[in-house]
Amino acid sequence: MTGNGPGRWTIRDQRHDPALVEVHLTPKDLRSSMERDVRTGLTSSPKRLPPVYFYDERGSRLFDEITRLEEYYPTRSERSILDRNAAEIAALAGADTLVELGAGTCDKSRILLRAMEATGRLKQFVPLDVSEEVLTEAAGGLAGEFPALAVHAVVADFHRHLGVLPRSGSRMFAFLGGTIGNLDPMQRRRFFADLDCSMDPGDSLLLGTDLVKDRSRLVSAYDDAAGVTARFNRNVLHVLNRELGATFVPEEFAHVASWNEGCSWIEMRLRSERRTTVRVEALDLDVDFDEGEDLLTEISCKFTPDGLDSELAACGFVTQATWRSPADEFQLTLATPYC
Ligand code: AVJ
Repeated sequence: MTGNGPGRWTIRDQRHDPALVEVHLTPKDLRSSMERDVRTGLTSSPKRLPPVYFYDERGSRLFDEITRLEEYYPTRSERSILDRNAAEIAALAGADTLVELGAGTCDKSRILLRAMEATGRLKQFVPLDVSEEVLTEAAGGLAGEFPALAVHAVVADFHRHLGVLPRSGSRMFAFLGGTIGNLDPMQRRRFFADLDCSMDPGDSLLLGTDLVKDRSRLVSAYDDAAGVTARFNRNVLHVLNRELGATFVPEEFAHVASWNEGCSWIEMRLRSERRTTVRVEALDLDVDFDEGEDLLTEISCKFTPDGLDSELAACGFVTQATWRSPADEFQLTLATPYC
């Protein structure tokens, strides 16, 4: 049975695919969010697009390539913290359920699940992601690797659906990869507050954040010599051309990555190399670009340990422990709701 309405349960053949998949976002929902986001972003000034549309199949492959680049340290740094400290994290959290927000291929989940398994408490894994296809495959694979584990996958958007997560057990919420950095301070505040509301006493949050560092190191992580990040950035234009019948010529947009010191974030932009008008057929919209005009495609906020601490505190969280990679490049924070 395949669910195709919001909240419908999709229960696959348990002998082959022992994961439960609960769908709160259908292709139709995703489509209407995309139309709304793109119309809003391309008609605002300055023009902008949300980073979620980078990740079609090609974009996800390019991101994967980014994570292996010499210049792009965050993935490796976070991985080294997890490898070194997963046992301590699992012991401190004391959870029987891992809820992973933006789980994707569930790559990092394995390390945490193994560590939780070793505490003898592990019962349930709840990966949440917007992509039903990726999630179903990953959840099925994990269920095979951990035969005693109840896998309850949730196809949903963490901006809107935190309230639908199963509330049973004592849960560790993992939000890794530095994805929190894609949210501006206001969006973050709202996200942390929503999260605080959907957590119970005994639950905890494991948050992965990139840290402020030398400007040149930050910028080269988003402007690599091989041009992979440039291709990743332009990929969003290919996505709009395909999905919405837009007429972008991606090669005519230059990749720009810069460090905004005041806002403490990396900005990725696409700069139109000439004056042009782009038609977006599905929206019946024509968008004018001046020569040199920028389209903001992503912010990636960088944190300081103290700044993060007070931000979490302002949203009702108490920091329990932090772990940093060598040279303080990246941080994992374990925090609990203040109750
Ligand atoms: C997946 C959002 C954490 O901000 O570093 C990598 C995405 N963009 N290179 C990041 C990204 C350009 C990445 N996050």
